[in-house]
Amino acid sequence: MKIRFLLGSAVLAVLSFPALGSPAQGQPQVSYKNDVAPIIHDYCLNCHEPGGKGYEKSGLDMRTYQSLMQGTKFGTVIKPGDSFTSILIQLVEGRAHASIKMPFGMSGGLAKDKIEILKKWVNQGAQDN
Ligand code: HEC
Repeated sequence: MKIRFLLGSAVLAVLSFPALGSPAQGQPQVSYKNDVAPIIHDYCLNCHEPGGKGYEKSGLDMRTYQSLMQGTKFGTVIKPGDSFTSILIQLVEGRAHASIKMPFGMSGGLAKDKIEILKKWVNQGAQDN
C-alpha cells in the first residue's frame, strides 16, 4: 500500500516537472542582454553613441543599460511597466510624429516582431536582465 502510494507520487512529480520549467501564462521573460541589446546594436547604436547624430541631437546614449535608462538631455525615454507612455516605444511605433519615427529615416521602420520585443521588455519592468 505504502509503496504503491510513493510510486504514484513519484510518477506524478515527473509528469508535472516540465510544467514547472515553462514560463507562467505563456509569457516568456524578455531579456535585456539577449533580446533587447542586439536590436539596439543593429538598429539604433550607430546614431545613438557619442559621434552619432541621434546622440549629438538628443543626448541619448544607448551603449549600456544604464545610459539607455538615463535617457536624453531632456529626460527618460523608458517608463518601466508602461510601454504606452514610454517615449522610446512611441517613437519606434511612429506614434509621436512620423518625422521622428525611429530608427530615424529607416523606410518601413523597425519590424513588428522587434517592436513587440521592446514593448514586452518595457511592460515587464525594463529590467537589466
Ligand atoms: C539614422 C540615425 C538614427 C538611428 C538609426 C536611430 N536614431 Fe533615434 N534619434 C536620431 C536623431 C537625429 C534624434 C533626434 C531627433 C530630434 O530631436 O529631432 C533621435 C532621437 C531619439 C530619441 C529621443 C527623442 C526625444 O524625446 O528627444 C529616442 C528615444 C530615439 N531616438 C530612439 C531610437 C531607437 C530606439 C532607435 C533604434 C530602434 C533609434 N533611435 C535609431 C537618429 C537616429
